[in-house]
Amino acid sequence: MTIGYLALIIFVVILAQVGMSMMLGLYRRHRTFKNKAGESAFETEHADSQGAALLNEDTGWKGFREFIVIRRQIEDTQASICSFYLKPIDGQPLPQFKPGQFLTFKLLIPDLATGQEKTVIRCYSLSDNYHPDYYRVSIKRVPSPDNRPELSPGVSSNYFHDHVEEGARLQIRAPSGHFHLIEEEALPVVLIGGGIGITPMLSILNTLLESGSQREIWLFYGVRNSSELVMQEHLRSLAKAHSRFHLHCCFSRPTVQEVEGVDYQHRGRVDISLLRATLKLQRYQFYICGPKPMMETLVPGLSELGVQSRDVYYESFGPATLVRQVRVKTKASQSVDKDINITFSKSGKKITWDQNAESLLEFAEAQGIDVQSGCRAGSCGSCQTAIESGEVEYSQQADADVESGNCLLCITRPKNNLTLAA
Ligand SMILES: Cc1cc2nc3c(=O)[nH]c(=O)nc-3n(C[C@H](O)[C@H](O)[C@H](O)COP(=O)(O)OP(=O)(O)OC[C@H]3O[C@@H](n4cnc5c(N)ncnc54)[C@H](O)[C@@H]3O)c2cc1C
Ligand code: FES
Repeated sequence: MTIGYLALIIFVVILAQVGMSMMLGLYRRHRTFKNKAGESAFETEHADSQGAALLNEDTGWKGFREFIVIRRQIEDTQASICSFYLKPIDGQPLPQFKPGQFLTFKLLIPDLATGQEKTVIRCYSLSDNYHPDYYRVSIKRVPSPDNRPELSPGVSSNYFHDHVEEGARLQIRAPSGHFHLIEEEALPVVLIGGGIGITPMLSILNTLLESGSQREIWLFYGVRNSSELVMQEHLRSLAKAHSRFHLHCCFSRPTVQEVEGVDYQHRGRVDISLLRATLKLQRYQFYICGPKPMMETLVPGLSELGVQSRDVYYESFGPATLVRQVRVKTKASQSVDKDINITFSKSGKKITWDQNAESLLEFAEAQGIDVQSGCRAGSCGSCQTAIESGEVEYSQQADADVESGNCLLCITRPKNNLTLAA
């Protein structure tokens, strides 16, 4: 080997070392930057929530306000639930909301059948405690029903997952809804969330813990297994940090690798026997949100246990069977022999009421009347319509605020001849 060749090798080795140390330096700086960003975000959140009162009656803005998506975050290992962080375009501070309340979105979604954009209105619960500069919602992708794979999957949820990126602009109504934490009483709180019904519970939980409230909190979170758990790390770290917060994850179908007592606390669904076995005998406030079967067993079950209805608050993300049972009774209470006429004054149509229709909304749609709808569950207010004459009866309590002289078509049926401004 010549001296020149040896010198060349030494030069190349030195060059490689310099290059590596420069890259390492850059990598470290990137890590440091990320850590700093994380710390300051935490400090800001902490300062904000300490400065804020827990609840406030300010209901916000009228109509729709424009927001921009500032962050997207997948929340489960299946990537079926995504959080969207929403900041108002006008830069003004956001009004406080009551934890448990929801936002109503107006989306313009291309309709594959017509090629035109159509307006879709949907509600999504706020899934975090109050922050003055952004709101957060967490949305589950809704597939076609298992037994009807030919149907198109959920319009809004899939649009959010597939097309609402950071920077997207959205039209949003102010927080609303009557399902929310009742702050006045200092009772211990039992939160029960099934599947995506965890979202309002997260808002209530984060609010209670951030506010420094001393109320004891139980969270019973029902899912099939850990692949469906949302924000696992967040929940576990809260349970570690706060002795007054008791986390109970209930897996109805744990995988063979999942160990009871480590990955989850209870095998099976959240049911009355579990609540009886876990909770001490005392008065609680219960907040429940989940799928139909959960609501159908828990709400009457608590009542049978002697829990007073004023201590049980629940919400379902759509018209659950609980609602349908009331509807069936309502139908029976109506006279079937007497025809009821519905006049749609704007459309110039007078039609005999169909006793089998679930609601005035369903009836109007079947008759080709142009009516707005969103949640179809009395929550968003989209179907609010003026009654020009006659009366309606409600099949459930309205969540949206209804102006005097109006009704929500999605949860009402006529009592007698009716004229609607539609
Ligand atoms: C107060 C409130 C709060 C809510 N909060 C949340 C939340 O925090 N997170 C969340 O993820 N969701 C929440 N929801 C539910 C949410 O509003 C939507 O209902 C949900 O995202 C589904 O809407 P979509 O447009 O995706 O589905 P849709 O288009 O409404 O479809 C729903 C289902 O019907 C099927 N379908 C389509 N066509 C037909 C047909 N012809 N016949 C029968 N079935 C059909 C679809 O395949 C799908 O399975 C909330 C709802 C309410 C009322
Ligand atoms: S459609 Fe939402 S209140 Fe009727």
